[in-house]
Parts: sequence; C-alpha cells; structure tokens
Amino acid sequence: MKLEYRNNELHCEDVPLSELFLEFGTPLYVYSRSAFLENFRAIDHALHGIEHVTCYALKANSNLHILKALAEEGAGADVVSAGELLLALKAGFSPERIVFAGVGKREDEMELGLKEEIHCFNVESIPELQLLSLVAMRLQKRARVALRINPDIRAGSHPYISTGLNDHKFGIPAAQAAEAFRTAASLPNLEVCGVHVHIGSQITRPEPFAEAADIVASLVRSQRAAGLPITHVDVGGGFGVRYKNALRQEGLPEEDEDSAPPSAPAELIGAMLPVLKDLGCTVWLEPGRAIVADAGLLLTKVLYRKENGAKRFLIVDAGMNDLLRPSLYQAYHQIVPVRLETMERETVDVVGPVCETGDFLARDRVMPRIKQNDVLAVLTAGAYGFVNVSNYNSRLRPAEVLVNGDRVRVIRPRQTLEELVS
Ligand code: LLP
Repeated sequence: MKLEYRNNELHCEDVPLSELFLEFGTPLYVYSRSAFLENFRAIDHALHGIEHVTCYALKANSNLHILKALAEEGAGADVVSAGELLLALKAGFSPERIVFAGVGKREDEMELGLKEEIHCFNVESIPELQLLSLVAMRLQKRARVALRINPDIRAGSHPYISTGLNDHKFGIPAAQAAEAFRTAASLPNLEVCGVHVHIGSQITRPEPFAEAADIVASLVRSQRAAGLPITHVDVGGGFGVRYKNALRQEGLPEEDEDSAPPSAPAELIGAMLPVLKDLGCTVWLEPGRAIVADAGLLLTKVLYRKENGAKRFLIVDAGMNDLLRPSLYQAYHQIVPVRLETMERETVDVVGPVCETGDFLARDRVMPRIKQNDVLAVLTAGAYGFVNVSNYNSRLRPAEVLVNGDRVRVIRPRQTLEELVS
C-alpha cells in the first residue's frame, strides 16, 4: 500500500490517517484503491502471454466497492456461497468469469450458479458430482465442472489454512482422481472441463506451487489420454504476503523475521509457468490475500494504558470481533502509531476490550512508546479482516473507507446501536 510518514504523520496515499479517524472514528478499516488494483495487475501480468483468468477470491474481502473496482479492472471471481455469487454479479463480474468453489455447496447454491450460467463449479467429492448432476438435470442445464484434487503437498503455512494434505477435508485425494473423473464423465448434464487445486494460504515459497503444477499437468495428460477434453486448469490462490516489516521507517522497530520474506506473487506464479504454458489450457487463478491484504489497515484508538504485574498493556478499541486473525491463528500484524513522536521503546501487549484473554492484536511487542488516546494502525489487514467481523459482545461493526489519491469514500458506514438492537 502507498503508506508513508510525511512529517511523522502516517498517510495512506495522499490522505493523513489522523483526518480519517477524526472524521469517521475508530475502529476503522482503511483501504487504498491503487494498492489493490496494482496488486491485481501484477498478478494478472505474471500470466501475460498465456490464456488466463485471474479470479479474485471474494472471501478475502467482499466489500462491494472493492469488488466493483476489481471487476472493472477485468478480474474474474472465485465465490464460495450464494451470498458471494450474488455480490459478484452485483459488482459486475461476468458470469463466464466466475468459478464456484467450496467443500459444502448446498442444492440452492448449485441452482443459483446454474441459473446464472457461471463458468464452472469446482467439485470436491463424488456425492457432490451426483447432486450437481441431478440439479442440472432438473433445471435442464449443463454444469461445467473442474475436479478439485488434493495433491497431498505440505505447503508450510499455519495448520488452519493449509488445505492440500490428504487428511484435510478438501478435494478428492489424488489416488481417487481417476475414478472421480470417470464418474463425472458418466453423469448426465455434467461437462468435465478441468482440474483444480488449491494447496493452502499464505504460502511464501515457490516450491509447493511448482509441485502442485506438476501434479495438475500429469492429471491433465492422463485424463486427456482417457478421452476427456480438459481445457481448464485452476491452480488456486494462496500467494503469501509480508506481515512483518510491512512498513519500514526510521523510528519504527525492526521486526524479527523467522524466515526469509515471502517471494512476490509473480515469482510464486512463475514457478508454475514452465509446466502450465505448454498444457494448452486456460489457466485460472484464485488469489485473495495477495490482492487485498496490504491494501488495508485497521485504525484503533488506545483507550487505556495498564500495568498488571510485569505486563504492560495497551487496551485499544478494536477487539477480536474487529480483527480475528491474531486470536484465531496467532497471526502477526505490524502495528504502528499514526503519529510517530518518539524514539523511546517499550514492550507491550496490544489487547482489545472483549471479555477473553485470547482477545489480543499483539503480544510482547516492541513498539514506540504510546500514550492514552493515541491512534494505532494495524497493518496488512485488508484480507480476512472485515469479512470476519462479528457482533461478539454486541459490539458494533466498524466502518470501512476507501482512499483514492486525496479522496475518501465511506464504503461501509459504521453499524449503529439502533441497527444492532432492532
Ligand atoms: N481458493 C480456495 C479454494 C480457497 O480456499 C482460498 C482460501 C483461496 C482460493 C484464496 O486464498 P488466498 O489467495 O487468499 O490465500 N482466514 C485465513 C485464510 C483462509 C483461506 C481460505 N481459503 C487467514 O486469515 O489467514
């Protein structure tokens, strides 16, 4: 994101963040339009010269205004529910650039996808193939399907977001792929067009992608040899982003990184290209995080400073209901002051107001010394941030604003107490 200190005041593009919290309050999600558009373009460009569709995975952030901008830019959409499908259509994604994924699609969701004539369903089991075939028969439609194969690859991300191992619920085990393709080909009203893999999220090294691409390519070849006209490969998303040292600046502590910084998405995609480019298939991608994560941040105000024993706490007004990732995955988000006023350092826990010990944004974090009422920016919060907001503790959902140059637009107003209790 275009995020920098000008005269010690943090700016997103040309807007000082202090203006935003004074006008819109906290907690507040702030997004940079140019950041997510540039991220999209860089990913899309990595497949330059190959027929491809870069589908944005709506689950990462499904704000309609962000979706509209990505649809205008030429993105396709990866959806996992009727709600996401309707949002994608409303935002202007064309149905032939929409894929429907998910391990537990309901019948009504299949119906909606068929009626809207989306490009294809990524199917994850034989019973799902059977149900889709029945629904398609009933509607007198043909369902295009890609089979999601679970390639049994260890992708090295957090266990909750690794998806490509055999003991995960996702996909069809590679050993059963041939049988699943045969079943798919034999069922009425299905058109088997492709192979799908998605090996996990926040993957930072090229090797697992290269491995997955090899598996996809050999499946394409074997299924073509078995007589199926495979024209489509979907290699999923999962491209990792940088959470530590997302912003470097004199006066901000350097953050310890346990491993090398993530390879850029273009490099991760590049690892698959040698294999994918000669397959004669359209290549589909489903990135979410790599498009929106670093295009968003969460502003939160320090309500109190508090010392309990040896521990020093900053109690802020954003809790686990506003940003769940630290509580759920012990995820790391760099947190920086909106006004950088001191070189003095201290180690703090940044915690929310919710009634749980697990309600924290950072633990034992070295930060510049922060005062009561200071405002902090929690960085790299554009993906899997707002989408996981809840009303836990009957707290209000935060607002979202979009920055474009020096302009600011509220893209979701803050929930009000009246709305909450009605
Ligand atoms: N395709 C499929 C089939 C997926 O399951 C996912 C993410 C994506 C694409 C997009 O993956 P991405 O490019 O964003 O890594 N809430 C977690 C992440 C969950 C990812 C779920 N699936 C987090 O906050 O880290």
